Amino acid sequence: MCGIIGAASSRNVGKLLIQGLHKMEYRGYDSAGIALHQKDHVTRLRALGKVQALEDLMIEHKPKSKLGIAHTRWATHGKPSEANAHPHASSEQIYIVHNGIIENYKELTKKLKDSGYQFASQTDSELIAHLIHHHYKNNDLLCAMQLAIKELEGAYAIAAVDLNHKDQLVIARYKSPLLIGVGIEENFAASDPLALAQLTSDFVFLEDGDTAVVKKDSYEIFDAKSKSVNREVTHLDIETSSVTKGEFSHFMEKEIFEQPQSASNTLESRLGSNDVLDNIFGLGSSEIFSETKRIQFVACGTSLHAGKVGRFWFEEIAGIPCYVDFASEYRYRNPLVEDGTLFVTISQSGETADTLAALRYAKDKDYLSTLSICNVPTSSLARESDHVLFTNAGPEIGVASTKAFTTQLVSLLLLSMSIAKSQDKNPIMREAITKELKDLPAAINASLDTKTAIQKITPAIAEKNNALFLGRGIFFPIVQEGALKLKEISYIHAEAYPAGELKHGPLALVDDSIPIVALSPENDLTEKLISNLEEVKARGGTLYVFGEGQDQFTIDSGSYIGMPKCNKFIAPIIYTIPLQILAYYVACHRGTDLDQPRNLAKSVTVESVSYTHLTLPTKA
Ligand code: AGP
Repeated sequence: MCGIIGAASSRNVGKLLIQGLHKMEYRGYDSAGIALHQKDHVTRLRALGKVQALEDLMIEHKPKSKLGIAHTRWATHGKPSEANAHPHASSEQIYIVHNGIIENYKELTKKLKDSGYQFASQTDSELIAHLIHHHYKNNDLLCAMQLAIKELEGAYAIAAVDLNHKDQLVIARYKSPLLIGVGIEENFAASDPLALAQLTSDFVFLEDGDTAVVKKDSYEIFDAKSKSVNREVTHLDIETSSVTKGEFSHFMEKEIFEQPQSASNTLESRLGSNDVLDNIFGLGSSEIFSETKRIQFVACGTSLHAGKVGRFWFEEIAGIPCYVDFASEYRYRNPLVEDGTLFVTISQSGETADTLAALRYAKDKDYLSTLSICNVPTSSLARESDHVLFTNAGPEIGVASTKAFTTQLVSLLLLSMSIAKSQDKNPIMREAITKELKDLPAAINASLDTKTAIQKITPAIAEKNNALFLGRGIFFPIVQEGALKLKEISYIHAEAYPAGELKHGPLALVDDSIPIVALSPENDLTEKLISNLEEVKARGGTLYVFGEGQDQFTIDSGSYIGMPKCNKFIAPIIYTIPLQILAYYVACHRGTDLDQPRNLAKSVTVESVSYTHLTLPTKA
């Protein structure tokens, strides 16, 4: 994880680098640091905690410089501390920032220690500075970087400066995102174009194995064989208003209330009057869909929940079976790939290491094709998949995913309709779904009106430490998503169950101290769900039920919150909204840092800390 940024300019870069770090705090916020070149020395400032702490240090020290690198960290190797914060230095000569994980960290550290280098941190990143220093000859930082990365195993995006050059950054990429931002009399490097949104709209995305020299008025890129190469410049207009909170108290709140618009953005130019349009997943996708016999979904967290909802739609609308797997588990078994299976990844960021690794693993298997549903057009996942549908939700900054999830659901409905269309299945159903989707933004708006009723129940839930979420059928993955939202931002332990499973164990948890949140839309399972809720009532459980028209259902303890009437296919999207609102207000009530909850980061671009890097206690 982590976000890196660098700048070479004819103006002072300190403020620009800090602004860029703020935009990348979604990548981690355990510590932040900056190194600024100042002719005869490099000033390094590092602070524990969020970028604001580093900004305060900058205000105090006021360093001026036209060349610098900076970093915001999500700790993998070594706890969050000032010593473990980047930039890391070697002999006050080489300074680096790194995003990724170096897997052969132990061997390289030993080798460097044996040749006399002293380490000041417990990170796997510091060795990169020493390794570059070790290879640094004839003032050639680029060559030192190219030799150093040949020894690295793992994933990295690196930016380096050295004392002898006050005008250049050297950068390198392998399996971690890195791009050059092209400006006028200034050029930049960053993990995400968002970090440079206010500075330029022209970006060059590096490929795996690339290195580059970036100066204020030029840049040159070299491929894995150190041969100078041209990479295309991509013009991207990143709306800066979408990275500010506006009138809202938190990004999450803003993003919840943006959902009528984000859903309509996902639908734009994708629906005709009675059906989904052809080839919205790219040219040639219709042919692939006509041969698709089953789907393998792979994703993480919220995106995985979207896949679980999607399974119901693919079975009903496209009449094909689906498998849904945790990306972090998928490649550690030996999946048997049946003929005609389409491999589908779902990801907001498109940079989640587990999902990307699963896609790369799947490419060596006999899948029909790979397809990704993704929110970030420039992401690795989007670039490496055969077909892509962008969710067009706009930047999502709150760590807890909201509008990204509902736009993924809309995209999955479009995908299941596209496959059904290519196979001539269910035309009447497709027409009905088209109509429902056209009403979706208005229906989301109506469900946002549950806010006032939800605010009334939040104090009672906020004082508890556990909660149970119940749903049935397609609403089970929706309550799983609701439980995930509550835990990640309010730190309340929450579990989700299909309501029919209660009697097989979890009913033992029910007493008057555990809030039970249930979704009870009008559908074929309503009666069964209500009898499950009666079981809870009989045990004195406190129920918070979101439902439509079940006036006959009385609640002794808790509340019934009426939902707007909504049609079958869009109902899972509509019922997601009150669960997001509930989690948001409960977290506000508990006073957590809900846009940046503890221990998490928006984009998880590392797999995990490898076991071999941990120091285990030795047996006495
Ligand atoms: C959800 O609120 C999360 N923060 C998390 O579960 C997220 O969905 C997961 O890490 C996957 O991210 P992606 O969609 O960017 O791949």
